[in-house]
Amino acid sequence: MLSNKHFISLKDTPKEDIMKLIETGLSFREVLERPVKKVPTLSGKNILNLFFENSTRTKMSFELAEKRLSADVTNFSASSSSLNKGETFRDTVQNIQVMKIDCIVMRHPSPGSSLQLTNFVDSIIVNGGDGCHEHPTQAMLDVMSLYEKFETFKNLKVAIIGDILHSRVALSNIYALKTLGVEVTLCGPPHLIPIGIQDLGVDINYNVDEVLEWADAINVLRIQRERMGIGLIPSVREYREVFGITSKRIENLKKEIVIMHPGPINRGVELDGDVADSDNSIILNQVLNGVAMRMSILYHLLSEGDTIND
Ligand code: CP
Repeated sequence: MLSNKHFISLKDTPKEDIMKLIETGLSFREVLERPVKKVPTLSGKNILNLFFENSTRTKMSFELAEKRLSADVTNFSASSSSLNKGETFRDTVQNIQVMKIDCIVMRHPSPGSSLQLTNFVDSIIVNGGDGCHEHPTQAMLDVMSLYEKFETFKNLKVAIIGDILHSRVALSNIYALKTLGVEVTLCGPPHLIPIGIQDLGVDINYNVDEVLEWADAINVLRIQRERMGIGLIPSVREYREVFGITSKRIENLKKEIVIMHPGPINRGVELDGDVADSDNSIILNQVLNGVAMRMSILYHLLSEGDTIND
């Protein structure tokens, strides 16, 4: 059991819950290495993936996680639904609710939408990313990947680099990392770092080379190309020069550094392709851990105390 019925935010998630989810996630990683990558734990449970926004990793890894836990899975895509005929969000989800859904995983462009959903339905709600607010399951797979790599959070230094202001990944990572006692520095264009964010216990450094010298691991965030049209950065070339994690910057470092990215990557913008593909990178391991961590989250929310192999 976790402290909350739903999994919507990491703001008040206790350290005990985070560590429990990581330990179970690591056990599920072992299940994923077996010839038969499936356990009967959530047999008879109905889970709906309610996606109002594009997704590759989150949608696929939730679906895989649900199927590997033997749950019954239904996928909803907003673009082919009756929302296009004018049906409201509330009517849509209440129609879904009466079909006896135990858990809804939702991605939605509006911040706060997952919390709002808890007012409309009785199902357990998992936030698969709500606008530029939070992406708690991504942050959980990120901290699991760090733990797998470093085997401790003690004295760990993590930098989050890029557009912090519009990133749901950044906020959830900050909440989780600070709860775990990790030192966190943010780096990016000053206008893309929220005013007052130091109140969450993070530092800010605008010099990416100094940040690389300081950090054990960096989590590089996507420059959101869809927002470039409204002038968030002067040019891709200039961004790469000042904040990009380039091959040259990594070659000049006199130490090992772990490279993370939640995806999708803009190769040659925030991260050079050969850095993303290098031995320093754990980006694809993050994706694999995403399946195991989402299995862990669903297991703890829905299993009612059964053991992993029951
Ligand atoms: N990291 C992440 O949320 O990727 P998707 O948008 O592809 O789900």
